Amino acid sequence: MSQPRNALIIGASRGIGLGLSKRLQQQGWAVSATRRGLAGAEESPEIKWVTLDINNTQQSITFGQMLPPEQFDVIVVNAGVYGPEHQSVNTATVDELLSLFMTNTFSPIRIAEATLHALKANTGILAFTSSKLASLNENPQADMPLYSASKSALNMLTRALLPGMESRGQTLLSLHPGWVQTDLGGTSAPLTVADSVQGLVKVLESYKGKGGHHFVDYNMQGLSW
Ligand SMILES: NC(=O)c1ccc[n+]([C@@H]2O[C@H](COP(=O)([O-])OP(=O)(O)OC[C@H]3O[C@@H](n4cnc5c(N)ncnc54)[C@H](OP(=O)(O)O)[C@@H]3O)[C@@H](O)[C@H]2O)c1
Repeated sequence: MSQPRNALIIGASRGIGLGLSKRLQQQGWAVSATRRGLAGAEESPEIKWVTLDINNTQQSITFGQMLPPEQFDVIVVNAGVYGPEHQSVNTATVDELLSLFMTNTFSPIRIAEATLHALKANTGILAFTSSKLASLNENPQADMPLYSASKSALNMLTRALLPGMESRGQTLLSLHPGWVQTDLGGTSAPLTVADSVQGLVKVLESYKGKGGHHFVDYNMQGLSW
């Protein structure tokens, strides 16, 4: 019998992260997932849950040190927030700006760096849940500017991981999950979590071994940076 593939999903208490963890587990993957509180753990006991706040640097380092080398086929850094409702640079407090950019931009890179040794060489995929809104071409009016800027900056810092990953033959993805009905996406979103994660799993499976850094949506469409 072949070994199950291993996935680590960072930020999986609800929404897309929880849906993705459950979908992978249902498809036979061994899934480890993180959440800050207890939400999600009870309804998916077959998933290995670890407590982690990605904005807690020491927790992220300790979590990474616990992981054996080359354990995971896929690591998805999914945690994210929308930031202040008004999305205005001038109205936002310094704390709001720092919190948004720590959570969406800097902490995802830190937790990725802390866990990268646990990604398999050659076939491993490191994916970040970015957004189409990060792209000047896809979002020419700069809708939701603070949130979008945090994801643009995430894409750029993600690219900075590429040289090290390429030397190990790994693949880097910046994913757009679609506009999805979650606490963050709201009820007007056209996609259910199930629709989105079904597509995301196909993307993860089809990019295995491809190498490079790709900006791609849940429907496998390549996006312009
Ligand atoms: N929904 C959409 O339409 C959409 C579109 C494009 C991109 N995205 C991106 O997709 C990702 C998931 O979003 P979602 O729609 O599923 O949102 P969601 O339902 O609000 O879930 C956000 C997840 O991020 C976690 N998180 C937030 N801050 C964290 C931190 N400091 N440490 C660890 N985990 C943290 C949350 O955990 P807690 O439960 O502990 O808060 C939760 O599990 C985000 O990166 C988002 O930007 C979403």
